[in-house]
Amino acid sequence: MSFPNHRPRRLRTTPAMRRLTAEHRLAPADLILPAFIREGLSEPSPITSMPGVVQHTSESLKRAAAEAVELGIGGIMLFGVPAVRDARGTASLDPDGVLNKGIRDIRAEVGDDLVIMSDLCLDEFTDHGHCGVLDAEGYVDNDATLEIYGRMGVAQAEAGAHVVGPSGMMDGQVAVIRQALEDAGHKNTAILAYAAKYASPFYGPFREAVDSQLTGDRRTYQMDSANRREAILEVELDLEEGADMVMVKPAMSYLDILADVAAMSPVPVSAYQVSGEYAMIEAAAANGWIDRRGAIVESVLSIKRAGANTVLTYWAAELAGWLKES
Ligand code: PBG
Repeated sequence: MSFPNHRPRRLRTTPAMRRLTAEHRLAPADLILPAFIREGLSEPSPITSMPGVVQHTSESLKRAAAEAVELGIGGIMLFGVPAVRDARGTASLDPDGVLNKGIRDIRAEVGDDLVIMSDLCLDEFTDHGHCGVLDAEGYVDNDATLEIYGRMGVAQAEAGAHVVGPSGMMDGQVAVIRQALEDAGHKNTAILAYAAKYASPFYGPFREAVDSQLTGDRRTYQMDSANRREAILEVELDLEEGADMVMVKPAMSYLDILADVAAMSPVPVSAYQVSGEYAMIEAAAANGWIDRRGAIVESVLSIKRAGANTVLTYWAAELAGWLKES
């Protein structure tokens, strides 16, 4: 293996040569578009910390879903922003609540042409902003939360979700949701488990996107960023409990975790390029500090290269458009 027999530059000489020898490619079908629907909105409402992303009305959400189909995007992940919140997140169970209605609306719009996924978590629905209900000490009560998650899963399946995405990091959540779905006859509703989800400041802009009421942090349930080995445990548990797909989140600061999970997972692996990752690149590009399109493409490609089969990214539509044109 020595020079000049090997000149790695030979395979970099032209765009066509680089295209032919690229080890990884992006495709619209691998992208999942996260989208927000807010109750009682008459016009789409911009999210300041995520330039280009909006809270949707039901009309604009339907258009976004139809556009995703046109672009060949793989799926949409829906988050609801309710008008009224309480300690137990009751609105999450209402069949006419903002998220369940949003699921029903886009299922009616796009049918089975797009995989409709829904966030299965209480943080958007609780007045304290935590992903579960609180006990007398203010600690997030794992098992009391599970019972609500099971009912949420059934409500979302009944509204038409193809996939539910439990993101609350409660122990046992996948098992309880799987059982609830089976009991209610939703045997084909799949579970995308947020398996290795870390507590992260990179979720910052998302707080604005869902008008989060959270004070404090989620460190008693989301993973500690110091931990690598533990991600394998979380994935193994979710697989045993019945996860159909697993996710690593955030993406860019956790590419080592993603590579570990990709190496051991027998089911498809997703990674979530979260709101703060989006905001960082948009902010740097807006200042003229980096090339926006180049940085977006490279960031998503790095996530695929690390082993993700699918990538949740707020750039899904724009990126799919670029991929279609090239
Ligand atoms: C919880 C949830 C969060 C995100 C997705 N699902 C917030 C959190 O865990 O604090 C963050 C996504 C992003 O930052 O883009 N429902």
